Amino acid sequence: MISTLDEILTAKVGLQPYQLLKLRSWGYDSAPASKGHHLAVRGGLVEHSYNVSKRLEEISKALKVEWPREHSTWVVGMLHDLVKCRCYRLRQDGSGSYDYVQPEYPGHGVASVMLATVDLGFCLLPAEAAAITWHMGAFGLQGKALDEFDAALNVYPAQIIATHTADWAAARLDESGDFSDLRSKGGAK
Ligand SMILES: [Fe+2]
Ligand SMILES: [Fe+2]
Repeated sequence: MISTLDEILTAKVGLQPYQLLKLRSWGYDSAPASKGHHLAVRGGLVEHSYNVSKRLEEISKALKVEWPREHSTWVVGMLHDLVKCRCYRLRQDGSGSYDYVQPEYPGHGVASVMLATVDLGFCLLPAEAAAITWHMGAFGLQGKALDEFDAALNVYPAQIIATHTADWAAARLDESGDFSDLRSKGGAK
């Protein structure tokens, strides 16, 4: 039974020990999932990533989405918001609130892909990279960016739609303040 964060990241995602250490040094365990929308608390990113992974697994099964490897849903779910390690800073006023800090890579999904591949040295496969890049769907896209999204949908429609739906379902349906079973098992602190 997979029950802790390290087990998920090694057995499901396939990270090596040195990559776990890197993630930890980036604050992956403690980062919030947002500044004020969902799981804006310490450990919120892990909680959200876990919820997205589980939703993506369910949705992929229901829609018969084909992924390039056995645990792609966990790769995508646990890494899709990696950039959040870098863009929230806890205020030092004791309020428990976070400020947004511009990360080194532009773009939300693209920045997570860059961190996973360039900085973490993890080999994302093309469908996984596309799903992470476009996990926000068409939100906030205008002009040529919409054309690029449309082009990506032509190549990986099921993977992108499933990931976007999983992200949305996790944030809006699962994260109303309850802790998932991961945290109760001590995986996310
Ligand atoms: Fe995101
Ligand atoms: Fe997300």
